[in-house]
Amino acid sequence: MARDGGSRLTAVCFLASYIWLSCSLQRHSLIDQPRLSSFLLLFISGAAAFGASLFSKWLPGADGRFDSEAALKGMQSSIPHRPRRFYVPCIILLIVFRLEIVHTVVQDFQCSVEGIEAFLPVLLAAHEFFSHRTPPVVSDEPEDMWGDPLEDFKEWLISSPITLLFSTVLFSYGVFMLGDLTPRSTYFCSTLMNKSSYTVLMQCLGVLIDAIILVMLWRVLSWARTTRSRLRTLGGILILASIGVSALWLETRISRHREIIGHHPFKGIGSLYLFDVFSTGLLVSTLIISTVLWACDSTMLEPTAIATFTSGMMGSIQNVLLIGTYLQPTFGPPLTVLSVISAGFIMFTYANNMRWIVVFKRVFLMGLLISIIFASGIVALVKHKLVERHPVDDLVYRNRVEADRWLRHASISTTLKLAVAEYKDRHNGRDPPPNFDKWFEYARKQNSVVIDRFDQIEKDLLPFWGMTPQQIHNGFERLKGLPDIGIITIANGKASRNRPTDGDQETVLESLLWLITPFAEHLPDMSVAINMNERPRILVPWDDIHRLTMAGSQSRFQLLPNRLRTRREDVTISVESNPMDTPKATYVSAKKFRQLEALACPPGSAARGGVQWDVRDFCASCVKPHSKGQFLEDWEMFLDPCHQPDIFNLHDFHTTPHLGDLHQDLLPLFSRSKTDSFSDIIMPMHDIWAFLETEWTSFDKKKDIVVWQESIREVGVVTPQSLVGGQRNRLAHLVNNASAADEVSMLLGVQSDGKTKFQYEKTPTQGANGPLPFECGFTNADHPTNTLLKAQPCEDANCQLVHQEFGFKELRKVLDHRYVLLVDGADGGPHHFLPALRSNSVPVLSSIFREWYTERLLPWVHFVPIDPRYHALHSTMAYFIGLKNRGTINGRSQITTARLEDARWIADEGRKWANKAIRKEDMAVYMFRLLLEWGRVINEDRDNLGFKLPE
Ligand SMILES: *[C@@H]1O[C@H](CO)[C@@H](O)[C@H](O)[C@H]1NC(C)=O
Repeated sequence: MARDGGSRLTAVCFLASYIWLSCSLQRHSLIDQPRLSSFLLLFISGAAAFGASLFSKWLPGADGRFDSEAALKGMQSSIPHRPRRFYVPCIILLIVFRLEIVHTVVQDFQCSVEGIEAFLPVLLAAHEFFSHRTPPVVSDEPEDMWGDPLEDFKEWLISSPITLLFSTVLFSYGVFMLGDLTPRSTYFCSTLMNKSSYTVLMQCLGVLIDAIILVMLWRVLSWARTTRSRLRTLGGILILASIGVSALWLETRISRHREIIGHHPFKGIGSLYLFDVFSTGLLVSTLIISTVLWACDSTMLEPTAIATFTSGMMGSIQNVLLIGTYLQPTFGPPLTVLSVISAGFIMFTYANNMRWIVVFKRVFLMGLLISIIFASGIVALVKHKLVERHPVDDLVYRNRVEADRWLRHASISTTLKLAVAEYKDRHNGRDPPPNFDKWFEYARKQNSVVIDRFDQIEKDLLPFWGMTPQQIHNGFERLKGLPDIGIITIANGKASRNRPTDGDQETVLESLLWLITPFAEHLPDMSVAINMNERPRILVPWDDIHRLTMAGSQSRFQLLPNRLRTRREDVTISVESNPMDTPKATYVSAKKFRQLEALACPPGSAARGGVQWDVRDFCASCVKPHSKGQFLEDWEMFLDPCHQPDIFNLHDFHTTPHLGDLHQDLLPLFSRSKTDSFSDIIMPMHDIWAFLETEWTSFDKKKDIVVWQESIREVGVVTPQSLVGGQRNRLAHLVNNASAADEVSMLLGVQSDGKTKFQYEKTPTQGANGPLPFECGFTNADHPTNTLLKAQPCEDANCQLVHQEFGFKELRKVLDHRYVLLVDGADGGPHHFLPALRSNSVPVLSSIFREWYTERLLPWVHFVPIDPRYHALHSTMAYFIGLKNRGTINGRSQITTARLEDARWIADEGRKWANKAIRKEDMAVYMFRLLLEWGRVINEDRDNLGFKLPE
């Protein structure tokens, strides 16, 4: 049928809003409150439909199809049966039910199958097939009664309902196959906790319900007399459905009322959510209204098919562009899928008699698709190449050079004079703090190799230069009263501590005093609050930190005292809402915690937009900025979570509730470690045993095994999300319990021109685990490095759950193995990292936390970095351990030889560097400098204070 400009505009609106929605759907704060969001979205769309009805005159099909006799005649056979009375309430109920299904599926999204939704057009085509209501062929010429029988047959074949059904099945299946090509994340579907078949069943049911809703809606709306009444009916249906959803929402609100703790009035979350609701609401309304207008001109099948096709094409083209990378190693499947989708859709346009596809003429679209396929073939040929040199080889080499450069930059100054000049150079002309000469002398005496480079201290303290000393002091006063805060006071050159109630805390403070005492006489008077919890506690929104940092790094007189003072007010509110009499009971739910972390990211960054809800698929864009191919390249970048919103689902730090208090105001709190989102000041705090001098077995005498062990005592709280998403649990699953369907992409060696080259290959995880000597898992002993402790009964629910899911391994002496995998706990980095670094083993580190020594370590030189998504774990370990003579992968025996010399070199380099730059003496030097700087920041006269060389 001929399409006028108006309906083409509808189609464009439809397509634009569809594409936009499907691109922005990945991250949404909306998913966090599914019922509230559905209610708001439906309501907004309903209101928009009513609004649009006011302007129905300008919308396509404004006369209504029954207004003109001719139109009625021409289209008679495409008008559906008259709708029944019960249709409208039925549609409303089904919409509510459908949204509940979405909600259920999203909860266990890792168990869902990608692409089932692509079969929606098939259901709609089947409906047309069985109701025999395909639109008639409208030809421009008067029908020729005595045509060529062959032509007739061709005509019949093209427009027969069977062809329609077949072509729809073809391209829908192509889109479905696309799901097979998408790499999956290591967030896994537990056989114990999740019901994978139930989730898939729900998905299928959901698609069926979609089809029923669409068909019913189409019938109801097609029978409306005018566009105006059509939109009004639609609006009414949407609003009524939204009321249905809101009833469900209210019900859950009431039943959840118990969960009162953890509901601090945090700032910033609401506005993020509202913004998302309104922007998405606008898109959804456009989508719904344009779908309806379009469908009433033709059938529901048409927009649905075009939407499915568009998704399929976008996915296929993306896949083609990824050919040759670890994400899409081979070119066969992506090209096949692309061709199947294109062929199916072209057939469909004939069978459905569509001359125009949105803005394209059919012939033009055909030409376009053929050229896309052609171009894809060329791209595939060009990009599918062997890798000449193993990327790890390259990384190890380049970082050696980088390590030399780092050291040179860290230890330029050999005399005090040079050190002062260097300090001024690096601090915009600011003088070093008073007693800098004493520090310099001390550092030299301790043989510190790092003299000039203390980036972490600078970064941590800079925002405090944007506050007045009085404000910092007020912050300290607030901290003093909180639980799990230790206080160290320096007065008249003597350091002392308060008396915490907890014995362990006393030990920590005692060792800090021991560290400070030797240089306490050179420190100004001060009191510092020390975080006795492992978790950092100061999570300031980015806007505040940014403002303070700007103020701090600009001229010292341009402070913003007034604005800061007004902020103080809302600060107090959030504290008073903390029930002070039950301070231990405060916690922040994991969900809210993630939202607050998102706020600590700069606007426009990927993580700021909300938490990613798609836990099933691997987020390639999240790893790209810090990776070289599959491998982790830039460790500094990797520690910044703002470009990787998926990490918030993949680490226990984010997936378990934050016990204890959390502050959105910049308070002067010193903590042991933190992630980059936090504004705690890092202070070196370590058990002394981390520096024990021991004779370690040499690298060559150690067992050629990758070991990781975690005591069940260290597991802590287990939530449904952390069980299948936490970094330790995913690792245990990947190595010991991978399912038959799990796949990893592995860089394998191939012989070519007499040389070993490399190519990525998809490998079943079970097959990839086979040749690699992994010994990873949970043990039932108290501490993995301490074999003296006996196993204890596993009684509490968390322990039982972990036991059932992963089983227990026998306790091993971790440091007797060549490769020691070091994985975070829920609250902080791996405890035995420093011993591992000194032990002649290769530390294989996967940690999102920073400690005082983090800036001194270089990946691929002092340790082997592993992304906590573990997508490169197998390739990385295969590089060092080798695959030759270790069995087959993908049915071939492998030729990659071990790069033992690189492993030995890293083990060596790590140990030497640790004994040179991460000793307890270095801790003291760091501490001295930190406290000197701090003493100046909190001094009223800080702008005039400074160390000046005697003339
Ligand atoms: C995972 O593997 C361990 C053995 O390594 C086994 O004890 C445990 O039952 C397995 N878990 C599941 C869910 O199959």
